[in-house]
Amino acid sequence: PLTDAEQADYKRRIAEELKAQNAVLVAHYYTDPLLQSLAEETGGCVSDSLEMARFGRDHPATTLVVAGVRFMGETSKILSPEKRVLMPTLDATCSLDIGCPIDEFSAFCDQHPDRTVVVYANTSAAVKARADWVVTSSCALQIVEHLMDQGQKILWAPDQHLGNYIQRETGADMLLWEGSCIVHEEFKAKALLDLKAVYPDAAILVHPESPMSVIELADAVGSTSQLIKATQTLPNPTFIVATDRGIFYKMQQGAPDKQLIEAPTAGNGATCRSCAHCPWMAMNTLPRLLESLQQGSNEIHVAAELIPRAVQPLERMLNFTR
Ligand code: 13P
Ligand code: SF4
Repeated sequence: PLTDAEQADYKRRIAEELKAQNAVLVAHYYTDPLLQSLAEETGGCVSDSLEMARFGRDHPATTLVVAGVRFMGETSKILSPEKRVLMPTLDATCSLDIGCPIDEFSAFCDQHPDRTVVVYANTSAAVKARADWVVTSSCALQIVEHLMDQGQKILWAPDQHLGNYIQRETGADMLLWEGSCIVHEEFKAKALLDLKAVYPDAAILVHPESPMSVIELADAVGSTSQLIKATQTLPNPTFIVATDRGIFYKMQQGAPDKQLIEAPTAGNGATCRSCAHCPWMAMNTLPRLLESLQQGSNEIHVAAELIPRAVQPLERMLNFTR
């Protein structure tokens, strides 16, 4: 780990590079708090995947530095092909993206031509190019409701838990791909109930990539930004939080008097604390970020033929949530 002095030195050098290169830092809530605070201090943005996409598209900088996972960098590039998009690492992927390869997905869509194809943002550019709509967990519910009102049947990919949750909430006709997030899948309902018994005043906050048994125990279900908001609006003194622990930086900042507790990720009484952390988000570090800026390395490229098709469902989402 870096010393305090080294952290400060990296932050100073990165801030200088950002300025010199007309670049802006766009970070997700699950990244290291050092990167989140750096984004805040340099006029960048820390947000959920929906607002990262919008911020990058609308910002006048000529270079976007995206701290998060690969699909977030690709989304930024699709929305702003004229901008240079850099990432601290290109190895930061997502189990949902990995679990939805384009060839199989495309064949699945071909088998169900009567269905509107709705994909989660956590997918490759090629999968987005095959979709009618892209959604994130911030807007999936409203968009599916809107499609249902129009009488449309839905093919949903890749997160089965989010898909199940939306299906339950809306009653929409949804055919689900069976992907999952390796981080949220680990939350355990039984251990969560045991923890709640210790903190009876606590509200349980759950990201909808979690299993249904965990969602059923929630006082609030939502995207990262919606869960942060819940810590500011719900009256409870304590929150048990079922999502990546990177989110605690922003939650604590907005609700400094509240007690925040990580939801358990292992059953049988042996709760694992500090385990819910995405290994790919964790690859985003200050040294890698500085190196990328200094060398222009880890630039995101999206195949030119995919961009005109992938941008349509993304713009549709951004317009719908404007
Ligand atoms: P949000 O859109 O809620 O920020 O979620 C992104 C993600 O990858 C959750 O695991
Ligand atoms: Fe993907 Fe899960 Fe990591 Fe989010 S937390 S980027 S869904 S693996």
